[in-house]
Amino acid sequence: MKSINRVGEKEIEYVKEVLSWGFRASAGYRMTKRLEEAFCEKFGSKYAVTFCNGTATLHIALEAVGVGLGDEVIVPPLTMSATTFGVLHANATPVFADVDPDTFQITAEAIEKCITPRTKAIIVVSLYGLAPDFDKIMAVAKKHNLAVIEDDAQCFLGKYKGRTVGTIGDIASFSFQASKHMTSSEGGMLITDNEELAKKIRCYSCLGYAGVGTNKGKISKTDIQDPEYNRHVSMGWNYRLSEVASAVALAQTERLEELVEIRQQSAKIFDDAIKGNTIIAPQKTGEDYVNAYWAYATKLIDDSITWKQFRDKYLELGGDGIYSAWKLTYQEPFFKNMAMLHREGLLNKTVSYEDGICPVAEALQPKILAFKSNYYDLNVAAAKAEALVKTINYFK
Ligand SMILES: Cc1ncc(COP(=O)(O)O)c(C=O)c1O
Repeated sequence: MKSINRVGEKEIEYVKEVLSWGFRASAGYRMTKRLEEAFCEKFGSKYAVTFCNGTATLHIALEAVGVGLGDEVIVPPLTMSATTFGVLHANATPVFADVDPDTFQITAEAIEKCITPRTKAIIVVSLYGLAPDFDKIMAVAKKHNLAVIEDDAQCFLGKYKGRTVGTIGDIASFSFQASKHMTSSEGGMLITDNEELAKKIRCYSCLGYAGVGTNKGKISKTDIQDPEYNRHVSMGWNYRLSEVASAVALAQTERLEELVEIRQQSAKIFDDAIKGNTIIAPQKTGEDYVNAYWAYATKLIDDSITWKQFRDKYLELGGDGIYSAWKLTYQEPFFKNMAMLHREGLLNKTVSYEDGICPVAEALQPKILAFKSNYYDLNVAAAKAEALVKTINYFK
């Protein structure tokens, strides 16, 4: 069976190239520019801006569409909490919309129920590698004039009705953190086809510099050296990625298909192995979807077995741990205790974070078993799938 290296020769070659430039300021934004060009080409998008991670991306995407104090942003509760941190970083109020029990995704119907005159944007997450139902969500967004930010940290080269995930909303966000399909250890990217948004994204993520642009991530030497130069035209953040990390991300972008396919093949091995069982059900992937399988997500459907019993037996029989099992964001201690670093007062008082606001997600979350799909050797994936079948047979 197939096996690949997660880090290959190209990653090393490009890192060596950056090191050979000696980190002079004049050598900045060379590898990052190449990465952005390659990313645009891979996704068929007009603009790409590189970031230090996939949380900063979400913050700046919201700043770029004009989200700020008093505004509400609709988010799913079932996701890694960084989705919501982006909203809090923009001093806005997150509003949690419920999910579908089979696809695990935020739904257009739930989003519509959460809309108020203060709603400015929606962040949709392509959870575990699967897109939400974009057509319905985009229709709601259009009707209410809301921006749509795609959080595709877990979805590289997934598809929705033939379209590449990342090209449907106004802006799409990716993470290059170590668990993701492609990685540079840490890192992130925003893509968009909207030039105005791209300009703002670059400016706000590069300290509000006047001299940066859609395909320019640093200001020129002449500008830097001019005491009369008006360099900061806006407040901003320094969310840039290092050239060394960009080098790794470029090589990973060039071989992205291979990195995605190996996860999809692992998932297929799991999928075939558990077909027809009555204990766990896979996240429902509709016919018009290509799941990028950041993880192989399932839910326990046999109420007589607890999550811990199943996971422990799987480990005992040779399986791996669960890939990621987050609490619902509003059930995390930082929401329960309003540990918002003095920003809790900025949240709109009309929005509730009490248990019961998203009943489907609350019932689903304790039952989700998201298995690893990041096996770079499919023989290992096959052995783990066998352990999963043994676990299911044990409980049958
Ligand atoms: C759905 C989702 N959004 C955002 C993030 C944040 O990305 P990063 O860790 O690069 O900040 C992650 C993962 O880390 C994620 O899984």
